[in-house]
Amino acid sequence: MTVDVHVLDDPAAETALRLTTAASTGGHLALTGGSTPRAAYEQAAALSGDWRRATLWWGDERCVAPDDPRSNYALARDALIAHLDPAPRVERIEGERGPGAGAELYESALRATFGDAAPVFDLLLLGLGPDGHCASLFPGAPELAVTDRCVVGVERAGLEPFVPRISLTLPALTAARETLFVVTGAEKADAVRVAFGAGGDDVPARRVAEGAAGVTVLLDAAAAHAL
Ligand code: 6PG
Repeated sequence: MTVDVHVLDDPAAETALRLTTAASTGGHLALTGGSTPRAAYEQAAALSGDWRRATLWWGDERCVAPDDPRSNYALARDALIAHLDPAPRVERIEGERGPGAGAELYESALRATFGDAAPVFDLLLLGLGPDGHCASLFPGAPELAVTDRCVVGVERAGLEPFVPRISLTLPALTAARETLFVVTGAEKADAVRVAFGAGGDDVPARRVAEGAAGVTVLLDAAAAHAL
């Protein structure tokens, strides 16, 4: 596994810069949810980059309405997209349709742009759960075995919020040109060691890091302290 790890004072600032750079080249960016990326999205919005040719996708979504505070789309809309003028193209996951229909629809949207092969995002942003999950692929979940589709409905989330999810599968998560994990806080230190450290464990984030090309991990000192 080749992973480029950076321990930074402000991982959100570096994330914002990388998002803005990828957007300005007209890239396909896949965003993440959870609470960690909010600061990065806000800082990216403040950079006044050129997003008009970029397309925004998501690595996963909660099966809630797009105005629900738990929606990954809502987070990015409020912290980033609403502040971009001109706006990028937005290909959100329609979580409100439920895990089955929502996954089908997103799979079709990806195929319409990327064809039958796995989507090659220019930048895939991911968080890391304290259990080593990323996107909505949780440790031990049956969805980890799905290799014949790019998108899967996840009936049971392994962590809060306990709503069904829609997630990219491992083949889709490992096809990106650049994958950027951003992880902060001491409560993630063990997961960081397990996912990216020597002699870790077979958690979903490690599978992505092992399978993908060009993986960068941005950490603050607290998240890095068990490495
Ligand atoms: C989600 C995610 C998920 C997230 C991690 C980290 O929808 O929940 O996309 O994979 O990135 O759980 O979340 P936090 O940043 O909230 O710790």
